[in-house]
Amino acid sequence: MTKKLPTLSPVPNPSGGLRSQRINSLLDGMRSSSRYLEIGLNTGITFENVTAKRRWGVDPVVGFNQDKLPPGSRIFEQTSDSFFLSLPAGETFDFIYLDGLHQFEQALRDIENALAHLAPRGLILIDDVLPTSLLSCFRSQRMSNLAQKLLGDYSGRWHGDVYRAFAYLRNHLPHLAFTTCMEDPSGRPIHAQTILWVDVPDKTGVFAGGWWTRSRYRFFLPWFIFNRNKTKDMYRGMTDHSAIAQSLLKSQGS
Ligand SMILES: C[S@@+](CC[C@H](N)C(=O)[O-])C[C@H]1O[C@@H](n2cnc3c(N)ncnc32)[C@H](O)[C@@H]1O
Repeated sequence: MTKKLPTLSPVPNPSGGLRSQRINSLLDGMRSSSRYLEIGLNTGITFENVTAKRRWGVDPVVGFNQDKLPPGSRIFEQTSDSFFLSLPAGETFDFIYLDGLHQFEQALRDIENALAHLAPRGLILIDDVLPTSLLSCFRSQRMSNLAQKLLGDYSGRWHGDVYRAFAYLRNHLPHLAFTTCMEDPSGRPIHAQTILWVDVPDKTGVFAGGWWTRSRYRFFLPWFIFNRNKTKDMYRGMTDHSAIAQSLLKSQGS
């Protein structure tokens, strides 16, 4: 029997989902906010409720009905790598939400590709930058879920090792600025997301560190990531409201 897939609402509900609430607050404060790209869609809960006029989404396994898409939306049923490979160089987005495969190398490639297609004063939001437990940061989602079940501590949360990409960009990409929402929009201390923008536009294309530098981060151990005070400092963590206000103030200029 084939699974019945959900159909997206034709009109976004600005307070529809927690992740879209944060994205919509950011979009509201941007000078230009019409072109939105989401990497990793799942069932489309966020994509459905984002208020940008033009919404593009990418996922190799799309979990909703694509026959009836909301106006202005376009879906690419492929991996983020193949999407970016075929995207014309001049195609840019005001806002890019990265929520695809939660593994270090992939997250880093997604960040680099997103930067190459980010409009001036654009914003990138990266999901799942901070694991909530040792079990949520396994590189394999299947193993993470299995371990959670075996240990009787099942939450289904999987953050993978995106935090390693964060450590890399923090240390090697100084022309980027960022701040992190440490809570979800309802105020719970879970689901950290980092807002990233280009601080020094002239250096947008500069990526320090070759293969060896990157490879080392594959073995970087998360000794600090369960220490709330340390992570708050490292991730430039703030409450949802302050992080949104600060990133808008700094990225949009006067
Ligand atoms: C956490 S879900 C996305 C949730 C969605 N952004 C939301 O807010 O509701 C992660 C999605 O990433 C997709 N994914 C996995 N590997 C990917 C890849 N290489 N490129 C793009 N998407 C990928 C999965 O199929 C899955 O649907």
